[in-house]
Amino acid sequence: MTIPDRGAHVVRPAYAKVNLCLHVTGQRHDGYHLLDSLVVRVGVGDTLTAVLDDRLSLSVEGPRAGGVPTGAQNLVMRAAYLVDAGAGRGAALHLIKELPNAAGIGGGSADAAATLLALSALWGVPLPEDVARLGADVPVCLSDAPQRMRGVGEVLTPVDGVPPMWVVLVNPGVPVPTPQVFAALASKSNPPMPDRLPDWPDAAAFAAWLAEHRNDLEPPARALLPQIDRALAALDGAMLARMSGSGATCFGLHASARDARDAAARIASDHPDWWVADAPVLRG
Ligand code: C5P
Repeated sequence: MTIPDRGAHVVRPAYAKVNLCLHVTGQRHDGYHLLDSLVVRVGVGDTLTAVLDDRLSLSVEGPRAGGVPTGAQNLVMRAAYLVDAGAGRGAALHLIKELPNAAGIGGGSADAAATLLALSALWGVPLPEDVARLGADVPVCLSDAPQRMRGVGEVLTPVDGVPPMWVVLVNPGVPVPTPQVFAALASKSNPPMPDRLPDWPDAAAFAAWLAEHRNDLEPPARALLPQIDRALAALDGAMLARMSGSGATCFGLHASARDARDAAARIASDHPDWWVADAPVLRG
């Protein structure tokens, strides 16, 4: 697939997000849930290219392009219309899709955030203020640094001191219906993280601290989709293994790139039909 080469263009990575822990602390009147989540971006993702053009268009290629819509319902196009704000600007958008969809690692949200940043730079216009209306995970995906995410996803604070770490991501190939997982929660009012996060001297201390916290969506997701149990079992040997977001992708934490690479190679060879990746945790 070729993209028009007319000079001005912007290329942005759309890195996966991982919820290292995710506490569901309440529910709003509109049904959305209040969260308290430690979110990092990791060095694997999609790539968005925006080239100045007469009109807005989107093309998609890559190993995970199958079934991704290219019309107005794609989050990338919705993000583009939000930045354009009715002015009628044009750009040829091209997405290389590496991340699985409906997988708990923010694929669509990362693509939307990359589009907002790329088009704001390409057209020289400010970022829109109400990006959360594209999706609860879009605001957190505007930054590559670790963040604490509260509210329904729109209250963000930077988190310093995350030690160097690597993840192995494993997706057992089942898309997850996020609303169904939220609906199956046993309790919607669970304790948040402590107000003040501690200092973590190294990756082992960080993993031990995380182990005292939770992904509240993991039990209902596992009950709906037993494949998640197999993904978590395959990550045995990591410092911590947990599900991200509403699943089904699970992550294992490792203190070295080599450990992560070896674990990913072993899991990929044992489960050739799964999506498996290893990547550094981005620290801003
Ligand atoms: O915002 P987004 O489209 O990513 O959310 C997908 C679904 O996940 C929502 O329709 C809602 O059912 C659920 N959700 C929620 N509370 C949040 C985020 C998502 O209930 N904070």
